[in-house]
Amino acid sequence: MARKRIILRVIVLFLTIFLHFSVSLSESEADILVKFKESLENTGALSNWNNNISPCKGDDENWVGIFCWNGTVWGLQLENMGLGGTIDMEALTKLPNLRTMSFMNNNFEGPLPNLTLISGLKSIYLSNNKFSGEIPSNAFNGMLYLKKVHLANNQFSGPIPASLAGLPKLIELMLENNQFDGEIPMFAQDRMRNFNVSHNQLVGEIPLSLNNFSASAFDGNRDLCGVPLASCSSPDQLTIGTIIMVAILVAAALAALVVVVIILRRRTQPPQQLAGAVAAGAAVFQQGEKKANAVDLDRIEQGQAGSSGSSSPEKSSRGKKSEPNMKITFLREDREKFDMADLLKASAEILGSGVFGSTYKAALNDGQMMVVKRFRYMNNVNKEEFYEHMRRLGRLNHPNLLPIVGFYYRKEEKLLVADYMERVSLAVHLHGNRSRSNSCPDWPTRLKILKGVVKGLLYLYNELPSLTAPHGHLKSSNVLLDRSYTPLLTDYGLVPVVNPEQAQEHMISYKSPEYKTSGRITKRTDIWSLGILIIETLTGKFPSNFLQQGKSSDTNVAAWVESVTGDDGDMEVFDADMDRTENAEGEMMKLLKIGLDCCQTDADRRPDIKEVAEMIEEVKEKGS
Ligand SMILES: *[C@@H]1O[C@H](CO)[C@@H](O)[C@H](O)[C@H]1NC(C)=O
Ligand SMILES: *[C@@H]1O[C@H](CO)[C@@H](O)[C@H](O)[C@H]1NC(C)=O
Ligand SMILES: *[C@@H]1O[C@H](CO)[C@@H](O)[C@H](O)[C@H]1NC(C)=O
Ligand SMILES: *[C@@H]1O[C@H](CO)[C@@H](O)[C@H](O)[C@H]1NC(C)=O
Repeated sequence: MARKRIILRVIVLFLTIFLHFSVSLSESEADILVKFKESLENTGALSNWNNNISPCKGDDENWVGIFCWNGTVWGLQLENMGLGGTIDMEALTKLPNLRTMSFMNNNFEGPLPNLTLISGLKSIYLSNNKFSGEIPSNAFNGMLYLKKVHLANNQFSGPIPASLAGLPKLIELMLENNQFDGEIPMFAQDRMRNFNVSHNQLVGEIPLSLNNFSASAFDGNRDLCGVPLASCSSPDQLTIGTIIMVAILVAAALAALVVVVIILRRRTQPPQQLAGAVAAGAAVFQQGEKKANAVDLDRIEQGQAGSSGSSSPEKSSRGKKSEPNMKITFLREDREKFDMADLLKASAEILGSGVFGSTYKAALNDGQMMVVKRFRYMNNVNKEEFYEHMRRLGRLNHPNLLPIVGFYYRKEEKLLVADYMERVSLAVHLHGNRSRSNSCPDWPTRLKILKGVVKGLLYLYNELPSLTAPHGHLKSSNVLLDRSYTPLLTDYGLVPVVNPEQAQEHMISYKSPEYKTSGRITKRTDIWSLGILIIETLTGKFPSNFLQQGKSSDTNVAAWVESVTGDDGDMEVFDADMDRTENAEGEMMKLLKIGLDCCQTDADRRPDIKEVAEMIEEVKEKGS
């Protein structure tokens, strides 16, 4: 009997100790909030925050400024209270159910609090305070549930943090009346409902995904352009583009004159055509003088002098280097030839400007539409190697590749000329403004597009076996669509000619997990880009996390994939705007699985291109 009692006492003792510890280990929400309050200043409005009574009773609040649900705090609303001091995020991390926080209309100062500590946060309201300073680009990393971010009317400066553009759930972003500068990151959230960046110092083109907001969302910035503001190809902008063209042409015209002079000296009787050319050259030269400014001309002339030597015409005509690079080198026989003059005369329109340079659309006299892409940063190989590589790319011929029609070579920049595609890129169809003639492709169309992409890629693997990444820059904006939605890959095979620094910084291959871990790309790197493309096409979600420019972006594609695909078997992953055929779900799932397979972090576990081609051919429009 006595022994039993002792055992009982020991058990009770243990239980008491255990209970004591577990209580002191898990602070109550009241303790946590009282501790949080200590870091604030001027807390008169929070006088009823004390441990005598618990903050929540069921769904009701006993304290001011909090929201309760089922006995626990899920929100803080401390607005208009004259609060100052610091916001102790460390303390708040201990509130397991906190989802929303508002500190609007107070006197908080200093940098943005570290929000990533509360990764489950759905909304944060900090407008109308005195927060200031640059926000680190990764300040919103991993906040997969964040829907609303209000930072308006503060003094934040520096670029808009890139991590914001990668948030999969973001629908509201208010940044007006700060001092944000730089360009607006590539927001691709198709569900963005509220957006305002007015009255900052922003510059550059407004991303496509944001151009259905009214102009007042962008007003009062330093230099923003594009819908809904003035078009980036407005007369002003066009002149800049034209100046470059004119400058190049002037150099070409000068060189042409030199050549003509030489020929005139050699033959007494100049052919009719050449005389015409002289006149045309002179006319264009005058036009050029009018448009281009002296600095540009100087620069170009020096460049020209540098590349062909400052020798006299006779001497240079004998030298090997004499051939002035004034004409477009055509890679295809089946095209009507034109030259820089034709391009210049064409009414040009800037289609976009990327890291490597701008893209123009040019309508030639005969109605032919061409796309001209300017590339800077293409000096990885010397001139001979460049010509050789271009000829190699020019020989490629496949219904799913956009052929390179020709190119223009200068040391500082290259122009690649290709056919213009009516339906622009897959990216525009997936993420662009659908009200403007870019219809949303249905499931059979998307399947057809992806099948075509894989065929094009398979061809590249076969034809360019020496390239580690035969495409190298596969992404939805490099998949163009013709009238019948046949995909045509573009910007392929350029890895060898692009300068390594720029390639590493901007090309998709170098965003792959293998490049991150081993500093190398492999034969299966393009497969990874293909996987991303498949998932993007099926979900309609933009992989902004890894497409952000620059090295600073966190390339957490795994998190992106997880955030867009969610629990497996969940049909909601598919783009809700995608019309489906009957019983297509099983087939869509099959394709999604191929995409996921291709995205595996371990490159060796990804299927190879032949396997992908076989698997994707088996996916049908309709299930049985
Ligand atoms: C409410 O809280 C109680 C106890 O904390 C818990 O057992 C219950 O599951 C909760 N109810 C809901 C709907 O989550
Ligand atoms: C914010 O918190 C995260 C998570 O604890 C941490 O990794 C990061 O370094 C913090 N950032 C700053 C600027 O303190
Ligand atoms: C812009 O378009 C998106 C998606 O089409 C829509 O959800 C949003 O409400 C639109 N915004 C405005 C301001 O019209
Ligand atoms: C954006 O903010 C400015 C300044 O507060 C306001 O005038 C404008 O109406 C807002 N526009 C939108 C679309 O929210």
